[in-house]
Amino acid sequence: MMRDVPPVIGHRGAAALAPENTLAGFRAAARLGVRMVEFDAKLSADGVPLLMHDDTLDRTTNGRGPVREAPWAALADLDAGGWFGPDFAGERIPTLTQALDTCCELGLAANVEIKPCPGRAAETATAVAETIRQVWPGDRTPPLVSSFSMDALEVARETAPWAPRGVLRETPATDWDVLSRSLEPATVHLNWRAVTATVVAALSARSLPVLVYTVNDAGTARRLFGMGVGGVFTDDPDAVMPVVPEGA
Ligand code: G3P
Ligand code: MG
Repeated sequence: MMRDVPPVIGHRGAAALAPENTLAGFRAAARLGVRMVEFDAKLSADGVPLLMHDDTLDRTTNGRGPVREAPWAALADLDAGGWFGPDFAGERIPTLTQALDTCCELGLAANVEIKPCPGRAAETATAVAETIRQVWPGDRTPPLVSSFSMDALEVARETAPWAPRGVLRETPATDWDVLSRSLEPATVHLNWRAVTATVVAALSARSLPVLVYTVNDAGTARRLFGMGVGGVFTDDPDAVMPVVPEGA
């Protein structure tokens, strides 16, 4: 496995236990012994990198409308936790800076998924790279930077060549050799439903460990580890940690 990527990665923090992409989720993951969290980064209208999965505020905050049209000042006070449960009311949207600082405080490794709003791939990747450079201590393993946007990964390679890259896809790509040459990824992140032992072996032969999302039950996790995947993204770490192979 790639150095420092553990077999269990908290998805959007620990999305089954706390509101996704919030610092409460990071704390929940850390309490369970998770060593790395994945989270989604995009930009406010005025270019502040923040944590949010959707392009709109509606599902995970008490705001409305596209994230890309809202300045950070309008986002900072939104409630990003009340939708999940009353215990989390008042939880805020974290900036990427806050998220990275919190990972460091909690001893968590980070997988920053660049999740640009439409048309903002390059500027989002640039801002993410710059924020990591400013915030992340030089003596810690840099965050794994992943994206479905190959444009974003290309910019990340240019602006933060020291950060390992993860290529995200719903299904396995056809020409990994071409992709490997252009992006020099450290890992490949696939939807577990599209993964077979053959896929894992083909990528392993190219020195590309496979991480799979989103795996929330022990049986599926056991089967995937048996195929040789290097790690699983999970909303529910307690469900999958018992089936991590010995020594992984
Ligand atoms: O990075 C793995 C996974 O998070 C990709 O899908 O939609 O949950 O961001 P999504
Ligand atoms: Mg994600």
